[in-house]
Amino acid sequence: MLLIETCLLVLVFVNTFTNSGGTKCDFFQNITIRLTPKTRFPYPKTYEVNNFSGCFEQTAFEETIKRLIVYDQNVEYIGDHAVHNMPELNTLGFNGCKINSISTRAFRDLPKLKELYIRFGNLTKIWSTVFNEITSLEIIDLYGNEISKIEVYAFGYMENLKQVIVSKNKLDKLYGIWFQNSSNIELLNFSENRIANISRFVFSKMSKLKDIFLDFNEISYIEDTAFENLKNLTYLGLSHNRLMVLDAKIFPETLYIEFLMINANYLNYLSNELLKKLSVKEMTLEGNPWKCPCLDRIHKWILKSNSTIRSTNFCIGDNIPRCFYSDEDQFCSETNDVDMTKSYLKTLKGLKKPLSNFCARLDDFL
Ligand SMILES: *[C@@H]1O[C@H](CO)[C@@H](O)[C@H](O)[C@H]1NC(C)=O
Ligand SMILES: *[C@@H]1O[C@H](CO)[C@@H](O)[C@H](O)[C@H]1NC(C)=O
Ligand SMILES: *[C@@H]1O[C@H](CO)[C@@H](O)[C@H](O)[C@H]1NC(C)=O
Ligand SMILES: *[C@@H]1O[C@H](CO)[C@@H](O)[C@H](O)[C@H]1NC(C)=O
Ligand SMILES: *[C@@H]1O[C@H](CO)[C@@H](O)[C@H](O)[C@H]1NC(C)=O
Ligand SMILES: *[C@@H]1O[C@H](CO)[C@@H](O)[C@H](O)[C@H]1NC(C)=O
Ligand SMILES: *[C@@H]1O[C@H](CO)[C@@H](O)[C@H](O)[C@H]1NC(C)=O
Ligand SMILES: *[C@@H]1O[C@H](CO)[C@@H](O)[C@H](O)[C@H]1NC(C)=O
Repeated sequence: MLLIETCLLVLVFVNTFTNSGGTKCDFFQNITIRLTPKTRFPYPKTYEVNNFSGCFEQTAFEETIKRLIVYDQNVEYIGDHAVHNMPELNTLGFNGCKINSISTRAFRDLPKLKELYIRFGNLTKIWSTVFNEITSLEIIDLYGNEISKIEVYAFGYMENLKQVIVSKNKLDKLYGIWFQNSSNIELLNFSENRIANISRFVFSKMSKLKDIFLDFNEISYIEDTAFENLKNLTYLGLSHNRLMVLDAKIFPETLYIEFLMINANYLNYLSNELLKKLSVKEMTLEGNPWKCPCLDRIHKWILKSNSTIRSTNFCIGDNIPRCFYSDEDQFCSETNDVDMTKSYLKTLKGLKKPLSNFCARLDDFL
């Protein structure tokens, strides 16, 4: 019995490490991978390798590899040096694998790696020092995992980082310190999480931000000056949240946003102060319990500034109220009317022809 166990131990040791040029690496076993070589006249051709076992390193392949994708394979862990020494690798992707953790030493000597994605996996936590050493990285995409924790600096100190996508995960907070000193970030996509509020420090050091996706979260509160240093945005997505107010104080003195998405919140009005500092090219409005005089005022502002209201196509049907009148309001009064919001949502839920869940925030209000 004892003897057998010792043998097993030795076997396990031999099996989990392969020795390649002095580097020990945790290897992948019997998986199918898709490779795209760097050049192949007249154009690069992607091919599959079945039953691949080993680490991803250039010496394991005949041609110089530019792109390596693992699709729907039974991989749970990316271990030490699992991907290393690939001088021309530009894109590395794991899609639909069951990955639940990544060693902090998983990726080494990948000087040209620009895009790394791990989509539809089972990651729950992102440690710092997994990505930081890949200084060439421009895009990190972790769409569709189970991430609820991200350590400080996880996306920090990366000079070339431009896009961080962690949409469709389980985050309830967003912290600026994750991105410390990665000052060239242009796009953040944290939509489809459970983020409840936005602190003023999240974007304060990211002056190059152009696109911020925060749609489909639980945001009910945005701190003053949260968007203070952003004067010119291409996209600000706040749709499908729980905002009752879009306070002018969250924005700088003047702000141009090409696409502003605020549909499906609990907004009763936009303040005059906000309309004065803001200009947009296109915006979405529907699925909010607007007060009619306030919606009128927005329409006038839209016309005057030559912008466009974009329809989402989620609120299609008859008898969908666009706004509400209350007794005292001749003019737009800049206050919340909780009863009106409740009655608006009740009306939407009670429609004969059930409305798309994407039209408005129809799940429990207050
Ligand atoms: C490798 O994986 C394939 C498909 O997943 C399977 O059919 C095959 O038996 C495996 N081979 C070994 C040696 O494990
Ligand atoms: C898969 O690879 C292993 C070793 O890497 C080998 O023993 C086995 O025969 C291969 N199976 C197939 C189906 O190619
Ligand atoms: C994902 O991870 C959780 C907990 O770590 C586990 O319970 C679940 O079975 C995993 N799912 C898959 C598909 O591996
Ligand atoms: C932060 O980034 C700047 C350049 O953007 C650099 O000069 C500085 O040394 C960095 N700080 C650290 C601690 O890496
Ligand atoms: C952001 O994430 C959402 C999923 O939540 C996706 O539909 C959208 O295409 C993403 N956009 C970008 C630019 O990454
Ligand atoms: C912001 O959210 C966190 C938890 O997500 C909570 O602890 C904190 O009280 C919230 N702050 C405000 C002002 O709502
Ligand atoms: C915003 O920035 C873009 C380029 O990044 C520029 O073309 C555009 O004119 C700017 N718009 C405003 C209103 O400053
Ligand atoms: C209004 O916008 C359209 C395109 O969106 C443009 O062609 C037109 O010149 C603009 N008019 C004014 C007065 O800015």
